[in-house]
Amino acid sequence: MIDVVPVALGARSYEVRIGCGLTDRAGAEIAPLLSRPRVAVVTDETVAALHLERLRDALLAQGIAMQALVLPAGEATKGWAQLAACVEWLLDAKVERRDVVVAFGGGVIGDLVGFAAAILRRGVRFVQIPTTLLAQVDSSVGGKTGINTGQGKNLVGAFHQPSLMLADIALLDTLPRRDLLSGYGEVVKYGLLGDAAFFDWLEINGPALADGDRSLRQQAVRRCVQMKAGIVERDETEEGERALLNLGHTFCHALEKATGYSDRLLHGEGVAVGCGLAFELSQRLGLCPQEDPGRVRAHLLAMGMKSGLRDIAGDLPDAATLLALMGQDKKVIDGRLRFVLARGIGQAFVAEDVPPALVQTLLEDAFT
Ligand SMILES: NC(=O)c1ccc[n+]([C@@H]2O[C@H](COP(=O)([O-])OP(=O)(O)OC[C@H]3O[C@@H](n4cnc5c(N)ncnc54)[C@H](O)[C@@H]3O)[C@@H](O)[C@H]2O)c1
Repeated sequence: MIDVVPVALGARSYEVRIGCGLTDRAGAEIAPLLSRPRVAVVTDETVAALHLERLRDALLAQGIAMQALVLPAGEATKGWAQLAACVEWLLDAKVERRDVVVAFGGGVIGDLVGFAAAILRRGVRFVQIPTTLLAQVDSSVGGKTGINTGQGKNLVGAFHQPSLMLADIALLDTLPRRDLLSGYGEVVKYGLLGDAAFFDWLEINGPALADGDRSLRQQAVRRCVQMKAGIVERDETEEGERALLNLGHTFCHALEKATGYSDRLLHGEGVAVGCGLAFELSQRLGLCPQEDPGRVRAHLLAMGMKSGLRDIAGDLPDAATLLALMGQDKKVIDGRLRFVLARGIGQAFVAEDVPPALVQTLLEDAFT
């Protein structure tokens, strides 16, 4: 069964279609968008080896020719060098204003290719076919595209909505467990930020979902996409409510920077650890019930995920240095630290002016 979640953004509206086997139907799904029967697909080496020929066959079955660019896998690809390579390849491939570019991969490919599509010829349409859980539940919806620079993550980019998103749940079968659980960090985030009943559901169904149950995976992707679509419809460019999606991210971005964006800490792992810290901070500020941080931590532990700073391999900088790294976050306004905190599970809000000393003590305690 295919679930369809509309993202209603006026002239930039599109559909997210979720189900098993969508890659094999990609030609038929994409054909209505095309002005001529060809697409340019950008993917990474890992996804190409596993799934690119199936996509080529599916497109060919509808008479659509495919040219493909295969980039190295990993976060380092999301930078200036591969952006330039991607844009120049698209120009060499003679992609025109009315053509469609397909991003076929995880969040790295989706963010990079979406940005390339945003700036190519002042904007061409693109289709997201996300292949990781993280990309299916989060990064492929909502139009945030961009790259990392030496100064930090996602500091250069554009809002550019896709024209269609196809979440093929079957593609997740080949995802290594660690990457799956990293994506699950974002899934948990949705329950924590705005849907307590969904968090209850995850506590029951999370383990089977991680073990491969496709029906549970589809239900979780659908719920997350529904929530994200709703938030993005109300606040496309993050003037307000959309900031709630950054639950855990102020901590996460500092930890990612401290670990050099390496595989010591995957993005979704950082989000999960960050959500735990955000709940701990909320509790220390007297905002959320005493038992909530423990419940968050217990679920992460039950899932076999990283739940605290001590689970991150290797040395981390001290609390004061981590705090300084947080000061470089995009969400800092006039030098004041903003955090997404919670009044309880499913009740996140943006807090201005969190006392830095309290955050530093929290981090010091998290090391012990
Ligand atoms: N734009 C947004 O709104 C948004 C939101 C959240 C995260 N992000 C970004 O997403 C990125 C992380 O995305 P990610 O976790 O998908 O990382 P990723 O794209 O690096 O993918 C993780 C790994 O899985 C491999 N892989 C992908 N699909 C596979 C499959 N089906 N089978 C086997 N292996 C597969 C990839 O090659 C890669 O090695 C970060 O850069 C983060 O900043 C963006």
